[in-house]
Amino acid sequence: MSAELQSLIQSAVDQRRNFAIISHPDAGKTTLTEKLLLYGGAIQEAGAVKARRSQRQATSDWMEMEKQRGISITSTVLQFDYDGYHINLLDTPGHQDFSEDTYRTLAAADNAVMLEDGAKGLEPQTLKLFEVCRMRRIPIFTFMNKMDRPGREPLELLDEIEQRLALKTYAVNWPIGNGDRFRGVFDRRSQTVHLFERSTHGKRQATNQILTLGDPQLERLLEPDLYSKLQEEVELLEGVGEDFDLTQVHGGAMTPVFFGSAMTNFGVELFLKSFLDYGLKPGYHRSTQGDIEPDYPEFSGFIFKLQANMDPKHRDRVAFVRVCSGKFEKDMTVNHARTGKTVRLSRPQKLFAQDRESVDEAFPGDVIGLNNPGVFTIGDTIYTGKKLEYEGIPCFSPEIFALLRNPNPSKFKQFNKGVSELREEGAVQIMYSVDESKRDPILAAVGQLQLEVVRFRLEYEYGVETLVELLPYTVARWVEGGWPALEPLGRLFNSITVKDSWQRPVLLFRNEWNVGQLLGDHPSLHLQAIAPVTV
Ligand code: G4P
Repeated sequence: MSAELQSLIQSAVDQRRNFAIISHPDAGKTTLTEKLLLYGGAIQEAGAVKARRSQRQATSDWMEMEKQRGISITSTVLQFDYDGYHINLLDTPGHQDFSEDTYRTLAAADNAVMLEDGAKGLEPQTLKLFEVCRMRRIPIFTFMNKMDRPGREPLELLDEIEQRLALKTYAVNWPIGNGDRFRGVFDRRSQTVHLFERSTHGKRQATNQILTLGDPQLERLLEPDLYSKLQEEVELLEGVGEDFDLTQVHGGAMTPVFFGSAMTNFGVELFLKSFLDYGLKPGYHRSTQGDIEPDYPEFSGFIFKLQANMDPKHRDRVAFVRVCSGKFEKDMTVNHARTGKTVRLSRPQKLFAQDRESVDEAFPGDVIGLNNPGVFTIGDTIYTGKKLEYEGIPCFSPEIFALLRNPNPSKFKQFNKGVSELREEGAVQIMYSVDESKRDPILAAVGQLQLEVVRFRLEYEYGVETLVELLPYTVARWVEGGWPALEPLGRLFNSITVKDSWQRPVLLFRNEWNVGQLLGDHPSLHLQAIAPVTV
């Protein structure tokens, strides 16, 4: 690689920050995303993201389900620039049934923003997603939202994170009042107080007044009780709180915490600025050739998500690629590690919600959409130069299992094609009985809605009406050591054995309690809740 290209890639990497938001539905993810785009100049007025969403609902057909239910199933990548940085926000579906999709998106993210509703604290969906971040040890930035509403005490919210997640906290800013009396935040980095003015529903960027803590004006501007509470709390934080430690933040052991209100824009820009300073830039990825750094001289990346039929005019599938190293160029020819074939990447796309914009070049940390139908599946590596393969994307533990039946034998071919394509796309996991005479696939999903999407799409895209028969299991475990580890144990009680799409044994249980029973009976058995990656 020429020195010129090397320095181009290096400066592109230095400028790039990529993150995904993890939260429970309703915590304000759409609102915060919108406000970040507002500050990034990607949209002029808040409301645009929701408007785009409804436009999409109007045009997309299998997304009819989204419209009927008023939820968001798909996820996209939003890119915007701010203060010399190029930011990739990996958007994730809001509905909890689609957390499998979110898990996979987290495999492509360098940082996560954990968004909490300040009145509710940690909620179940956030806890689940947090576990995935912890597994990858990515930095987690916490945004305590809705401070304009009466909420819990800030110290209590920090304590909850420390206790339940075993994660150290460092409050980068501190709220002044809450509910109707939320006046602003104290920024500990600059030791300044930011007082905000509300704009209608936070449509425009918030105007604020910045004062130092000792400024006599502050005493006049704040109610006396808020002023003295702020002084006390700041003293307390400085006295007993942890010191800020960027190494621990980058290792996922400490979370910087921000307080604010996405709806009124309070604290959003301060958060964005700090995130850009403290967030990790794109780093290395593990591969069969060892750790590949972003400045590795060849292009490489992996597919973390497939999205079907985003645009009903083109019945296509977009493969989302996380660029890991080198420089991506339009029309380049790459190697496809799984098949050993070469592929020309001729129609690369940048994705901003439903709009597609052609992309000519991309750098590590970026996500591009590729339109090569049938070529890619989740976890695939593409590269130039020496052969390498990235660690695959793990399969996450499904919680709902159902037999999928095709009552019409003349539709056999379409049924098989549909099932196999939906599986490749990651819409659902597919398992099979070990008894060869039972050919009906078992759908294994994280949520009920996933099953409905599969049935809906089989009917509308493949012309096959199907029946679904729920099975009484709620837990899946993969067996460490595969079939050889299982064989000597003979017949197992409290579980049934099935195989996944890679022919690996999976045990299905009615409940966690049965898992414990089986492990008690067979101490040599080791089970995994998340499937080993499939390279
Ligand atoms: P989600 O994507 O995480 O599911 O949440 P979303 O942004 O859609 O927000 C959920 C609700 O919470 C919305 O209210 C939104 O306006 C509100 N919200 C988000 N951030 C804040 C905040 O900082 N303060 C307050 N008070 N509310 C906030 P909604 O009534 O469901 O919708 P809308 O009619 O307001 O759009």
